[in-house]
This record gives sequence, structure tokens and C-alpha cells, in this order.
Amino acid sequence: MSLIKRIFSSKTEENKSGEQKKEYSENEDHKNTNKSNVMNDKIKFTIDGKECKADKGANLVEAAKANGIFIPTLCHLEGVKPAGSCRICNVKINGRFMTACTTEIADGMMIENNTTDIQELRNIIIETLFVSGNHYCPACEKSGNCELQALGYRYKMLVPRFPFEFEEKVVDASTPKIFIDRNRCILCKRCVRSLKTKDGKSIFAINGRGHKAMINIDHELANKMTDEEAQNAMDTCPVGSILKKERGYVDPIGSRKYDKKPIGSEIESVNK
Ligand code: SF4
Ligand code: FES
Repeated sequence: MSLIKRIFSSKTEENKSGEQKKEYSENEDHKNTNKSNVMNDKIKFTIDGKECKADKGANLVEAAKANGIFIPTLCHLEGVKPAGSCRICNVKINGRFMTACTTEIADGMMIENNTTDIQELRNIIIETLFVSGNHYCPACEKSGNCELQALGYRYKMLVPRFPFEFEEKVVDASTPKIFIDRNRCILCKRCVRSLKTKDGKSIFAINGRGHKAMINIDHELANKMTDEEAQNAMDTCPVGSILKKERGYVDPIGSRKYDKKPIGSEIESVNK
């Protein structure tokens, strides 16, 4: 079975069997043989053979980060319930592909993160995202601060192996504070899951399914956005799909987040 098929079949398996957390808590053998590893609520596990410890309840992305190990993410946002939609955080846990952001760390887990097949899978996902949108990085205000672009550099993407789709996507500049460029949207749903009004109403939503899915805004709510909320929306988007109007290209090239150091290096520099 091809690598990409195995990944997406692992997603189907997850959906069939419910949450990863449940799967682990129901594994009696796993629980019994590893009880001794849980001490003071710290969980012991290994990533690529390195012994690690993390707080009970952490997901695997956070647990790896606490040990100076970077697992790439796109749809994940700290403090927001994970969606598991982009699949870039796939790792192998005890030999099976699983998304790290949706998996709670359990004692005794043996995790593979930095292997050739996992890197290859991540390359495929990044390339797929590039060809299915219209990403013109040099002209994008998010260039240098864009997580997708930064992952492209980190995983040394040159030319995607897949044909570009060049789909026509509608831009929405009709609200006073923000600009939505659907050409760059990777449908990660970070905006949908985290950007709400004070009374809990969603400003963003995904409409349509499959190829027709696209990000939409509630114009009435978006018309009332403050400068601060617009900036927060721009910062929440991992790419340059949500931009704050009126003030652009504030940081010159060379001083943007990923201009000099690759994404993830801030995590890897800890515990060195
Ligand atoms: S607009 Fe940005 S944050 Fe919202 S789904 Fe698209 S890429 Fe994700
Ligand atoms: S970051 Fe885990 S699936 Fe997107």
C-alpha cells in the first residue's frame, strides 16, 4: 500500500475507533506493563529513541516540545481543541501512523518522528497544499511569517511533484478591517475554531465540502471587528489568507519570524 494511502487509511481507522486517547486507555496490556513508568504524574516515553518525560494529559505535540523536539503542525493551535485536519503532525506510535496533535501522551509510547518515511509523508502534504492553492509567496504579506512557507523551506521543497490546480478562488475585501484571500487558505479551520465574538458567535465558517469547501465570513460580525481583533485574526491564520487591512508589509524582509532560522528551531534549541 502506498505511503499516502496508509496515512489516510490510518485516519479512517481513527474515525472508526474513536479518539486515540480512548484507544490507549482501553489497552489493558499497555496499561499494566507500563504503570511503573508513571511517577509524580510525569509520563515517560521515547521519541526516536530519546527518553522523554511530559506532564500527564499533554498531547504529543506539546509533550515533544517540552523535550526540545519539534513536530510540525499547521491546523493545531495551542489552547484550542485539536481538529486533526492537516495531517502534517503524523508520527508513528508503536509502529502505527497517528496524528500527534490529537493523541494524548501515554506512558511507554515509542514514537518515531524523524524518519525517512515520515519526512516523505510531510513533504507530500506540503506539496499538496502548495499545488491546491495559489501561493505567490514573494508577493504575500505573510512571507517570512507564514508557517506553510516555513515548512516548505524546512523540508527543502523545490518544485512540487504534483501538477498545480490553479483553481479560481474568490477574494473577499468587502469588510472594513480584514481581507480574505482564499487562494492561500489551507482550510485548517484555526479561524473557525478560535475566533469568536464576546458572546461566542463564530465570525468564520467553512462552507461546502471536498473540492468546493471554502472559508467564509459572517459579514455582519466582521464589519464590527476592532483593529485588535483583525490583527489577532491575521496572526491566527498560519498562512496569508486573513490579512489586516490598512497597514501592510510592516516588518522588512530579514526581520520576519522565519527569515533567518527554520521553523521549529526555537523548540529544538531548548534542552540542547
Ligand atoms: S483562513 Fe487561514 S486560519 Fe482560516 S481556514 Fe484558511 S488558512 Fe486556516
Ligand atoms: S497539526 Fe495535527 S493534524 Fe494538523
